[in-house]
Amino acid sequence: MSISSFLTKKFLKSLFFPAHNRGKALPNKLIKLLKHPPGFWDLPELPEIGSPLSKNGLIADSQKSFSDKFNTKSCFFGVNGASGLIQSGIIAMANPGECILMPRNVHISVIKACALQNIIPIFFDLEFSIKTGHFKPITKKWFTNVLKNINIKKRKIVGVIFVNPYYQGYSKDLEPLIKICHQKNLPVLVDEAHGSYLLFCENMNLPKSAVSSKADLVVQSLHKSLNGLTQTAIIWYQGNLIEESNLRKSINLLQTTSPSSLLLSSCEESLKDWLKQENLSKYQKRIIEAKDIFQELIKRGIPLIKTQDPLKIILETSKIGIDGFTADKFFYKNGLIAELPEIMTLTFCLGFSKQKGFVNLLDKLWKELTIKSKRIKNLNLQKPPFKLIDTPEIPIGLAWRNKTQIIPLTESLGKISGDIICPYPPGIPLIVPGERIDKARLNWIETQSLYNEDLLNSYIRVLQN
Ligand SMILES: Cc1ncc(COP(=O)(O)O)c(C=O)c1O
Repeated sequence: MSISSFLTKKFLKSLFFPAHNRGKALPNKLIKLLKHPPGFWDLPELPEIGSPLSKNGLIADSQKSFSDKFNTKSCFFGVNGASGLIQSGIIAMANPGECILMPRNVHISVIKACALQNIIPIFFDLEFSIKTGHFKPITKKWFTNVLKNINIKKRKIVGVIFVNPYYQGYSKDLEPLIKICHQKNLPVLVDEAHGSYLLFCENMNLPKSAVSSKADLVVQSLHKSLNGLTQTAIIWYQGNLIEESNLRKSINLLQTTSPSSLLLSSCEESLKDWLKQENLSKYQKRIIEAKDIFQELIKRGIPLIKTQDPLKIILETSKIGIDGFTADKFFYKNGLIAELPEIMTLTFCLGFSKQKGFVNLLDKLWKELTIKSKRIKNLNLQKPPFKLIDTPEIPIGLAWRNKTQIIPLTESLGKISGDIICPYPPGIPLIVPGERIDKARLNWIETQSLYNEDLLNSYIRVLQN
């Protein structure tokens, strides 16, 4: 089967990203554009349009109108996902050999940028829930304790990264944490890949966007948390701690010379869509409906985990002794396609269209799965074996470039990793280049591989002695 044939495959219910729900929630103007003869709209960087880095043209005007609207200094569209703009942000924040403080649950794109530039990640651990298998959102108390245990100057830390919300929707108000960083003259990049829509919903008792909390750089994935096409993203820039020229330079470093006009138009339309009052009301209704879906499922006795993002429905599959990967396969076979399987849970993303029939379908399949599941067993979940503060033993860029050999993971005890081991989704690395594979880390990764086929029989590149 060709890729193009597969793209029209129908599923009973699609609860995955992109959040436009297979076109149903695309902005009207984009739908209109796509109705023109196929490909007609695929234009190069004509002077009237320009590119995200042009001083003039439709893209520059559009970006300016959004940055004015949200009181930032500037913003830039991206066509290589939040990944690409996170990487540009990191390169704007630190030079090779300098350090960035970051939580252990950063996205793999952060680690790749560090490897590329030899920027040193200083990881801090997060609280972890053994019930859900998820990291808990960071609190001011936790972060203050992290800072107490680290010498910022001695470590040459030049910036901080936070992830908020997490993939599953956990979120905390970052403003107090950002203030602490700013008092120390440290710029903050917030990976808000999962929170673009929060910017438009300030009065809905939802988490606050880091744009309003004055983070220096905020990166949003417009296909994950707004109604953009896959690969669309935006970076917001404000404050005085990062130079705009540095940011422009690093966007330029990684950006294609031929950004897709369709994707750039999708960036613009997905943001504009939410600025129109009638559309905003429609999307806000979706959010209220999402809360109703959660309540109805709970009423029917389906075990769910609540986070701060109503658009994520997290099924606690471990309640019946089933891991999220097994449950995911069962639902997939039955036409219900989820987004994120993990050991204890399976996360569905509601997106921005109406989800008629989801409650009944999930209810029906959950009952079937409960009957089929043999018997309740305890899943073997281990807390990640991270220290409160940690950094790779060998600089990440050196380890990445070093001579390596590929060996089975089971034989890697005591070796230094030259590789990133990272199941996707959620794209959070279990080990990064330069880290030593000790007993605790090896056991933990092996336990994960009991459930996750991606990790089964896995091999790893380790540094040659
Ligand atoms: C927390 C987080 N940040 C960044 C990204 C990258 O987003 P994109 O797929 O738009 O590149 C992801 C993707 O899964 C993510 O979960």
